[in-house]
Amino acid sequence: MRHSDIVAIVMLKAPALAPLLLVPLLHAEIRYLPSPKLWHLSAANVSYVFGVNNENQLQQVYWGPRLWRDADLTPPHTGLPWASFDTPGMTTPEEYPAWGGGRHLETCLKLTRADGVRDVILQYVTHSIQNGALTIHLKDKIDNIRVTLTYRISPTGILEKKAAVHNSTTQTITVESLQSGVWNLPLDSSYRLTTTFGRWAGEWQLEQEDVRPGQKILESRRGLTSHQANPWFMLDTGRASESHGRVWFGALAWSGNWRLTVEQSTHGQVRVTGGYNPFDLAWPLKPGESLESPSFYAGFTTHGFGEASRLLHRFTRDEILPNKRLRPVLYNSWEATTFHVTEEGQKALATIAAKLGVERFVMDDGWFGARNNDRAGLGDWTVNPKKFPRGLKPLIDHVHQLGMDFGLWVEPEMVNPDSGLYRAHPDWALHQAGRPRSEQRNQLMLNLARGDVKEYLFTVLDRLVTENDIQFLKWDANRNMTEPGWPEVPPADQKKLYIQYTRNLYEIIDRLRRKHPNLEIESCSGGGGRVDLGILRRTDQVWTSDNTDALDRLRIQEGFSYAYPTRVMMAWVTDVPNFNHRTTPLAFRFLTAMQGALGIGNNLNKMSAEDLDFSKRMIAWYKSVRATIQTGNLYRLASPRAGDFTANQYVSEDGKQSVVFGLLHAQHFGYPVPPLRLAGLDEKAVYRLHPLHPDKLELPTPELSGAWLMDHGLSFRLTGDYDATAVVLERLE
Ligand code: GLA
Repeated sequence: MRHSDIVAIVMLKAPALAPLLLVPLLHAEIRYLPSPKLWHLSAANVSYVFGVNNENQLQQVYWGPRLWRDADLTPPHTGLPWASFDTPGMTTPEEYPAWGGGRHLETCLKLTRADGVRDVILQYVTHSIQNGALTIHLKDKIDNIRVTLTYRISPTGILEKKAAVHNSTTQTITVESLQSGVWNLPLDSSYRLTTTFGRWAGEWQLEQEDVRPGQKILESRRGLTSHQANPWFMLDTGRASESHGRVWFGALAWSGNWRLTVEQSTHGQVRVTGGYNPFDLAWPLKPGESLESPSFYAGFTTHGFGEASRLLHRFTRDEILPNKRLRPVLYNSWEATTFHVTEEGQKALATIAAKLGVERFVMDDGWFGARNNDRAGLGDWTVNPKKFPRGLKPLIDHVHQLGMDFGLWVEPEMVNPDSGLYRAHPDWALHQAGRPRSEQRNQLMLNLARGDVKEYLFTVLDRLVTENDIQFLKWDANRNMTEPGWPEVPPADQKKLYIQYTRNLYEIIDRLRRKHPNLEIESCSGGGGRVDLGILRRTDQVWTSDNTDALDRLRIQEGFSYAYPTRVMMAWVTDVPNFNHRTTPLAFRFLTAMQGALGIGNNLNKMSAEDLDFSKRMIAWYKSVRATIQTGNLYRLASPRAGDFTANQYVSEDGKQSVVFGLLHAQHFGYPVPPLRLAGLDEKAVYRLHPLHPDKLELPTPELSGAWLMDHGLSFRLTGDYDATAVVLERLE
């Protein structure tokens, strides 16, 4: 590298990394190399290189292991046309292609000018590197449609892309697709896509499939992130495993209609384009106006799916989540009392919960309006006087006196037609003029895109939190958009609804948090229907799934863990028989739920003294290891999809503590559980083992080396059905 070539070097502070994480302490850099006209973004083990090609357009050059030799980098050249059918736009790994000039693949920008002209060809104008961000300005070849691209790279090599389109012309343009960017992958014919699909109570189901020519669309058209699909991907080549192989991965930070297009072109180029879902979208921009995309994050590792997840987890913990506080052990009343909440009933539950060691008591649905079932009351956020004749204060005081936080369930975006709010403002619900309004769970959705609805909801929630000593809100949303109309604005603006709705949701939460800095929020949408890096910027935790059956949970939690960190994953122990009419032992339920942020949802009035005592001991044990579980590095040792045994290991940031969970679903033919080889330890260190159940672990000696533990492994003595245990490893000096 010639010194004069470096226009700017951005040195970002690397956080204290665990000595055991496979990411070396290399600073993040964004460098511009003027003579080949390239930008080189690098950090940890990753380099991302793109530049300006012979057509003055942005072209991707490289994404993979970190490069050290600038002389290897030469100016990019567009691909060759293919016969008379494919233009260079079809054979070039373009960095931000707009629709125009002969592009038949997915593009990042599609628009229509008022005069009907749609062609856009973006060319490089200028760039700047400031405060850790690279900003690139592009302009249409002919007129003044402009695009600004912003790039960042985290100390662990997670890249961020986002885009904004500006109308600097003199006529209105209508944006029909705005993508945050496209990730071009190195040419290879063996890519495999991993992501999650699902439905209510069955979200986070991992799916893997080979990438073939054509498009695979992952998306939500539901107005919310959705249970159906989630905005993240992993792409591996050469059949990567949990611990080996090349994996490129990414996640989009948007909680409204989103889309990821995984595409293999006829010329073999694999790319992932992500941003707003263009379905039913039209965003008019008057002269001088702009539209910004959400952020699209991506990373790369040579160490398999496990390391890809750990990199995403670390990034989310360090750079996305609003605070670093450990998750308290929570009690939630929903499965115990459903809508039948009363001051006395909740106080009784709180008294027992406190004795168990619970730190936050959350009253769920049913406390407000005429909410005795799901047919009425949503929208009327005033305390039900029959259930709480003295208001919420006596209950909240009781909970505080017991030494716990108080939390409350709300579902602000929704309204039952049988409510005071709907009777006063029927026009506030999403609808299209003269068309039926589809109810789901007897409720409609408010049109949060409307400024008056946004202000109203902020005022209601602000008052609720100001007038009551509330530390936590569980923010629910129990349906998706139907008939997403906005009759009050001109027809040309009605399709702005999807984006504006999510923007206003974010604004309300951001304002609430600014005004009440100690307030914590859980994102829930009938379980895991609104989980993504956009909502996680402003919420502290998420409700993973309404399905709390421990065996199903192992699969749900595994799928969740591919993209999102343990720290945000709420996991409750509940009564049995559960969702699938399955009955699992209390220990199995605890050892499953303790692999996330632990909650209790049992009807405590009905638990035996023995079970209460057991729960108390398990909660105390959880607290002794939760920092490792919630903020440590996760190693998925045995997948619940692969057999009848699940095992996960958590290693603390400083490497001093590790926790291993082993759960046998069902034993067959008397076979023992094979030795479990651990991961993430220091082979030269010695660890003292503290088994939760000494009889369930074969331990030749209580102190073992990292080498033995990782190469020979631990033998669990688990038998029968739903047998489970855990062991804590303490590193000796
Ligand atoms: C949703 C949530 C549940 C509970 C109910 C209350 O289904 O996911 O946890 O809060 O709503 O109606």
